[in-house]
Amino acid sequence: MKPVALITGGSRGIGLGITKSMLEAGYSVAINGVRPKDQVKKVLAELISSKGEVIYCQGNIAESEDRSKIISEVKEHFGRLNVLVNNAGVAPKERNDILEASEESYDWVLDVNLKGPYFLTQLVARWMIEQKNTNPKDTFSIINISSVSATFASVSRGEYCISKAGMTMSTKLWAVRLGAYDIPVYEIQPGIISTDMTAGVVEKYDKLIEEGLTLQKRWGHPQDIGKTVAALAKGMIPYATGQVINADGGMTIQFL
Ligand code: NAI
Repeated sequence: MKPVALITGGSRGIGLGITKSMLEAGYSVAINGVRPKDQVKKVLAELISSKGEVIYCQGNIAESEDRSKIISEVKEHFGRLNVLVNNAGVAPKERNDILEASEESYDWVLDVNLKGPYFLTQLVARWMIEQKNTNPKDTFSIINISSVSATFASVSRGEYCISKAGMTMSTKLWAVRLGAYDIPVYEIQPGIISTDMTAGVVEKYDKLIEEGLTLQKRWGHPQDIGKTVAALAKGMIPYATGQVINADGGMTIQFL
């Protein structure tokens, strides 16, 4: 029986890269996303025909009822869950200086990027503990996708930075709480990754990368993050619960 991974925001961008890597690594995958199922039909069909078992669990992770529905669907279909990847996230609809930014944007970004993953993890953690008690040899893990914005202060999207910094504490909290059950919790902080989220700032980052923003002189791609997630899920970086992997082409290294 293949192990099962739930990947939020798994139908496009970084999440789709993670889905593909996890299928290649031998997992069955439950993809969550906000879009109605008919809008993701094409990508689901491609994934199912090429790799393996994939289901789609529509739902907004910011909403409590939706989170419960997503987990119920995974339970009903697979009856087990080995890996949760908290990938879904949003950037502010408008970048506004923190002197001007609105509470509405703050609430929306924090609800999706921080509250959603935190309480989804709570539901999954309870279920993983039950599974671990029943099947002590099975392996489980939780992987959070935050951002270099967890540590880099960008005053034109303060709410995003706060949400990602909060996720870093969430990683530590869940690593501490689940340590006794041998359920590791990891965090990946991607740098500049080529997806819909960054489609509007391509020229800006092309120039910055050319000027040396990253040590590895290229954009990151969804598969860079996918491979990192698969390595963590497969236990290739053992004995490292609570750690942050900087998947950013060396962008966060300070040097003189
Ligand atoms: P994207 O905008 O291409 O995809 C985001 C996915 O999340 C979509 O599938 C969307 O349906 C889903 N989603 C959004 N709100 C949701 C909600 N309320 N409930 C359920 N699903 C929801 O974004 P991208 O670039 O793939 O980003 C994925 C993650 O990586 C995000 O958490 C983002 O903050 C983070 N990240 C992205 C970077 C980049 O350069 N693209 C850099 C660092 C971090």
